[in-house]
Amino acid sequence: MKTAVLAYSGGLDTSCMIGWLKEDYGYDEVVAVLVDVGQDANFEPAFARGRAAGADDVVLVDRKEEFADEQVAKTLIANALYENKYPLVSALSRPVIAEAVAEIALGLDAEAVVHGCTGKGNDQVRFELAFKAKYPGVKVIAPLRDNVWTRDAEIAYAESRGIPVEAKQDSPFSIDDNLFGRACEAGILEDPWNAPPEAAYAMTGNPANAPAPDEIVIGFEQGLPVSLDGEELPLWQLILQLNELAGPYGIGRIDMIENRSVGIKSREVYEVPAAISLITSHQALEDLILTKAEAIAKRELEPKWAKLVYDGFWFHPVREAYDAFFAKTQELVTGEVRLRLQASMPAVAGSRSEFALYSESLASYATGETFPHRAAAGLIAITALETELVAARERKTAAV
Ligand code: ARG
Repeated sequence: MKTAVLAYSGGLDTSCMIGWLKEDYGYDEVVAVLVDVGQDANFEPAFARGRAAGADDVVLVDRKEEFADEQVAKTLIANALYENKYPLVSALSRPVIAEAVAEIALGLDAEAVVHGCTGKGNDQVRFELAFKAKYPGVKVIAPLRDNVWTRDAEIAYAESRGIPVEAKQDSPFSIDDNLFGRACEAGILEDPWNAPPEAAYAMTGNPANAPAPDEIVIGFEQGLPVSLDGEELPLWQLILQLNELAGPYGIGRIDMIENRSVGIKSREVYEVPAAISLITSHQALEDLILTKAEAIAKRELEPKWAKLVYDGFWFHPVREAYDAFFAKTQELVTGEVRLRLQASMPAVAGSRSEFALYSESLASYATGETFPHRAAAGLIAITALETELVAARERKTAAV
């Protein structure tokens, strides 16, 4: 028996795919795997649609907590922002989904794994690198790369096979979301001159109508957020709550042109209220605690980590090596940040840690400070030695 295991979203594309796998690719058995990474989805109709499309089994795998504790946690520690802006939302869920699919495929001794990505995006790269890492040698099928279907043709196909089509599937955008945020692309956003309409947003409010500013306290332990206003929460819940708190201010709305792995630029609108609030706070706490050399080394590696993960190399030893370095730097990153929620951008109002290297008695301009002023003269004499030699040489050669 030929079995294929599909990374199933419950949407129109992957529902049609179940039919194509049987009719056009000759699979006897198709198992559709839904992975819960905290997306805003109703799984009940997705099950029904998968069944109606002819799936032999529709499996729901809940990976919310693991996703938060692994991919999201490492992203927060790395302060990862692809091209300085995008906290990797979709790039993070792909390895999780692919891993769940590969595990089930291995268990069933399936011939193929299947994803619903097109040939123009990053997600195909991420899925396939992860499939190959978790099920070496498996055959990968990408029906939307083999055959480009129009939306209308898909809807006609679904109707002809009795697959229920949702009204939501008329969305003018292509959406991907999980507990860490939401990506919205295509439709009128494809013209970069068009401002995103409010309809492009779902997790955030318009900053023009932001509520009155408010302050929250985020507690961190070894680099990870562990509490909100003193209440300890597992990471996935903390993120959901913070999305609710920061979203109404329009915090985490990102509208950018990004460089995809496949060589084209795309216009993307993201909503990442918790991600931006946490990365801003975490950086502030690091500023208080890390040595200058640690901070310089870490800030140099952060964008490299972001690019690596964006490009699909989650399951790569070099990512683990970066993470080992980052983990070492986080051992003392424990403390609290006061974060002011206000329209568009959160602001750090204060920070404290028992491990702060910041020393008030050294930094203060007030009396009683302990800075060794006289030693500064010696430091400057030595630091300036070379500059002085160069200047003297210039004067000498100018005189010749
Ligand atoms: N461009 C973003 C990324 O590569 C978002 C992709 C979202 N996928 C989607 N089907 N809308 O991470």
